[in-house]
Amino acid sequence: MTQASGASAPAVQAALQALWHPGAVRDPYPGYEAVRSLSSGGVLPLLEWNAVFVTGHAANSALLRSPAARSGAWLAGAPGDTDALRLLKPMMLFHDGAAHARLRGLVQAAFTPRVVAEQRELVRALLAELLSALPNDTETDLVANLAAPLPARVIMHMLGLGGDDEARFIRWTQSVADLLGGADRSPELMGRIEADAREMRAYFRDLADELRAQPRPGLLSALAAAEDGGERLSSDELLSNAVLLLAAGHETTSNLIPGGLLELSRQPAAWAALVAQPEHPNVADELLRIVSPVQYDGRTLAEPVSLPGVTLPAGLHVQLLLGAANRDPEVFPEPGCINWERPNSARHLAFAAGAHYCLGASLARLEIRETFAALATRFPGLTVTDPNPPFKANPVLRGVSTLKVHLNGPV
Ligand code: HEM
Repeated sequence: MTQASGASAPAVQAALQALWHPGAVRDPYPGYEAVRSLSSGGVLPLLEWNAVFVTGHAANSALLRSPAARSGAWLAGAPGDTDALRLLKPMMLFHDGAAHARLRGLVQAAFTPRVVAEQRELVRALLAELLSALPNDTETDLVANLAAPLPARVIMHMLGLGGDDEARFIRWTQSVADLLGGADRSPELMGRIEADAREMRAYFRDLADELRAQPRPGLLSALAAAEDGGERLSSDELLSNAVLLLAAGHETTSNLIPGGLLELSRQPAAWAALVAQPEHPNVADELLRIVSPVQYDGRTLAEPVSLPGVTLPAGLHVQLLLGAANRDPEVFPEPGCINWERPNSARHLAFAAGAHYCLGASLARLEIRETFAALATRFPGLTVTDPNPPFKANPVLRGVSTLKVHLNGPV
C-alpha cells in the first residue's frame, strides 16, 4: 500500500479496522482517533486505494468549499438503471456547479427564511401535543413517540402532505437513509428500497401533476411554481427534490434528538446546566457538534487540490469524516465534553459547508432548540433507562432505533 502520509501499512490496516469494525456505529470515535493519529494536517491519503480520509476540521472545511471537490461524480457513473438511481440522480445533493446552483436556487426560492420562521408555532404545538401524550410513570421510547414523529410532521406540514400517510413517509425516509448510508446491502433490503423508490416516484409524480393543475398551500405547490429565468423544475426534478426534503428533513433531526439525550445522560452536569437555562442560545449548535447526525460526507476530486503540506491528485475519492472534524481537539478543546459555554460550537461542520451547506439548517436548529428547551423545562428528572440502546446499521446517518427513557414527571 502506498501512503503519502508515511504511515506503515500495518498501522493503516489497524486504523481502518477500527474505523469499519461492526461495533463502530455504536462508538465511532476510537476509529476516528486511530485514523487521526496517522494523519498529517488532518489528512490521511491512501493513494493505492485512490482515497483520502479527512479527520481534521480545517482540511474538511477546505475540501467542502473547494469547487474541485465534486458531489455528483460517483452517481453519474453508477451502473444500472434502477428506480432507486432514478430517484437519486435529480437530487440537488448530487449535482455540482451551475446545475447544482439552478436546482438549489429553485428549491430555496420556496424554502425562504420567512417560511421557516413561521414554523415556530407549529413546532411548539406539535411538541406540546407529543409531550403531553407521553406517560410520566412508566418507561417510554422517545424515538417512536417524539424524535420520529416531530420532524416528520413538521416537514410533511411544510410540504403540504396529508397526515394520514405519516407511517408510509417515515418508512420511505428510512429507505432513502438506508440507500444513502446503510451498511446492509442484502438482496432483501435492496428489494425493499427499490419497491419504496418506485412507490415514492409514482406518489410524488401524481401529486406534482395535481398541484400544477390545482395549487394548494405548502412548499410542494411553491416548488411546482418556482421559476428561475423562466425555467421550472422538471417533473423528475420536482419529485426527487421533494423526496430529498422529506428524507433530509426527517432522518437527521430524528437521529439528533435521541443522540443528544444519550450524550446528555452520560454528562449529567451538562443536563443540569440545560435544566437551569433551557433556552441557552448555544444548545442546538453544541448538540449538532457533539452528535453529528451526518458522520460522513463524500466528494471526488475533479482537479488536484493543495492543502497545507499535501497536494491531493485529481480522481481521488474523499472521505470527509464530519464526526471526527467536529471533535478535532485543535479547534474544540475537550471535544467529547458538552459545554454550552464553548465559544465556537457554531463552527461545527454538522451541516457541511460550501455549496451544499444544509438547506434546512435554520429549520433543524429551530426544531432542536424547541425540543430540548421543552424537555428540560417539562421533565428535568428525565432519565435514560437503557444506557446501551440499539443503533441502526447506518454509519453515515448515525442514530439509535429506540431510546428508552423515564420522564419522572415535572418537579
Ligand atoms: C444538505 C445535515 C436537517 C435539507 C445537508 C448536508 C448535511 C446536512 C451534512 C450536506 C450534504 C453534502 O455535503 O453532501 C443535516 C443535519 C440536519 C439536517 C445534521 C439536522 C440535524 C435538514 C432539514 C432539511 C434539510 C430539516 C429540510 C427540511 C437539506 C437539503 C440538503 C441538505 C435539501 C441538500 C443541499 C444541497 O445539496 O445543496 N444537510 N441536515 N436538512 N440538507 Fe440537511
